[in-house]
Amino acid sequence: MKDQPTPHDLDGNPVTPGLPMAMLAEITHRCPLACPYCSNPVELTRAAQELPAEDWGRVFREAAELGVLQVHISGGEPGARRDLAQIVGHARDAGLYVNLITSGIGITRDRLEELDRAGVDHVQLSLQGIRPDMADRISGHPGSWDKKMGFADWVTQIGFPLTINAVVHRQNMERLPDMIALAERLGARRIEVATVQFHGWADLNRAALMPTRDQAGFARQVVNDARLRLRGRMVIDYVPADHHAVYPKACMGGWGSTGLNVAPDGSVLPCHAAQSIGWMRFDNVRDRSLGEIWHHSDAFNAFRGTEWMAEPCRSCERKTVDFGGCRCQAMALAGDARATDPVCSKSPLHAQVVARAEQDADRTEFVYRRMKKGG
Ligand code: SF4
Ligand code: FES
Repeated sequence: MKDQPTPHDLDGNPVTPGLPMAMLAEITHRCPLACPYCSNPVELTRAAQELPAEDWGRVFREAAELGVLQVHISGGEPGARRDLAQIVGHARDAGLYVNLITSGIGITRDRLEELDRAGVDHVQLSLQGIRPDMADRISGHPGSWDKKMGFADWVTQIGFPLTINAVVHRQNMERLPDMIALAERLGARRIEVATVQFHGWADLNRAALMPTRDQAGFARQVVNDARLRLRGRMVIDYVPADHHAVYPKACMGGWGSTGLNVAPDGSVLPCHAAQSIGWMRFDNVRDRSLGEIWHHSDAFNAFRGTEWMAEPCRSCERKTVDFGGCRCQAMALAGDARATDPVCSKSPLHAQVVARAEQDADRTEFVYRRMKKGG
C-alpha cells in the first residue's frame, strides 16, 4: 500500500473516520515504579520534553470540540508531575470526564483531596500483586504494597469511584481469584483484568511474562465465574491472552476509530504502542490541532478502512470484526505492520508464534523499566 491521506475500503469507496470518544493523555513517562510489563516505549520521554500544562489545556479543549467525552490521565505516573492538579483543572474546564490512572505512589492524601477539587471524577489504581512480596517484586519498588493499600483507602474515603487495574502474566496469573477478591474488599466498582500485551518494556520481558496455555484457560474460567457471582456489584473487564486464542483482539476497536493517545511530548498516536512502527511519522499538538491530526494525518489514516489489508484478512469475513488484529503486534511478530496479526489462526506465522509462546517459559528474572540517567 502506498501512503495516502484518504483511506478506502476494498470497493474503492472513501472511508470517513468516526469521532473519538476517549483520549489517553500520557502526561509523563516518569514513574517511581519499574514494572517489567509496562507498554511505554523503551526510549522514554524526558521531563524537559513534556508538554506544559497550558498546552494540555488547549489539547483538552480541542479534544472536547472533536467529540471526546472522557480523558484518561496517565503516564508513567501522572503524580510525578507537580502541576497535575492544574492539568486536571484544564480537563474539567474543557468539560471532559476525568479518569486518573495511577500507581498511587507519590500522591498524598492532601494531594488527592486537591485533585478532587480540581476535577478528578474517577480513579483507576494499578495493583501488581496480592501480597507485599509479590507486589514489591513485580513493581520493583519496595514498600509499594503498603502505600497502595493506604491510597485505596483514601480513594474510597474521599468518595471517588474506584477501578482496579490488574495486569496478569505467567508470574501472577494463578492468583487472579485473590486479585478479584482484593478488588471487592477495596470497594472497587470495576476491575480491569488485562493479560500483558507485549509492547515496549513488556516485549523485552516476554520470556518471563508469557502465560501458558493452561493459565490462559484458567483465567478465562475465573473471569467467567466471577462475572456471574459479582453481577450488579462489580464489573469485570477482561483482555484475554491472545497468543492462545483463535482470533486476535480488535485492538483499539479498530485503528483511528474511537480513541487516540497523546504522548508526553505532544505526539498524537493512534494507539499506545504505535511508535514501535518505525516508518510511521506522528504529528504533534505543538504543530497542528487535534482535529486536523485525527482527520487528516497519515498515521491515523494508515489503517482505516480495509484497502490497506493483505491476505488472508482481505478476503476474511472477520475483517470488519477484528480489523486484522493489532498493528503493533503484526510489526513486532511479522516485521510488517500491514500483515495479519500473527496470533490469528489464519496467519501463516501463527504456528511459529504459538510454538514460541509455548517455549517462552524459561525465565523468571525481569528487565525493570527504568529511565536512562538524566531523565
Ligand atoms: Fe481477523 Fe485477519 Fe484473522 Fe480474518 S484473517 S480473523 S480479519 S486477523
Ligand atoms: Fe497498536 Fe494494537 S497496540 S494497534
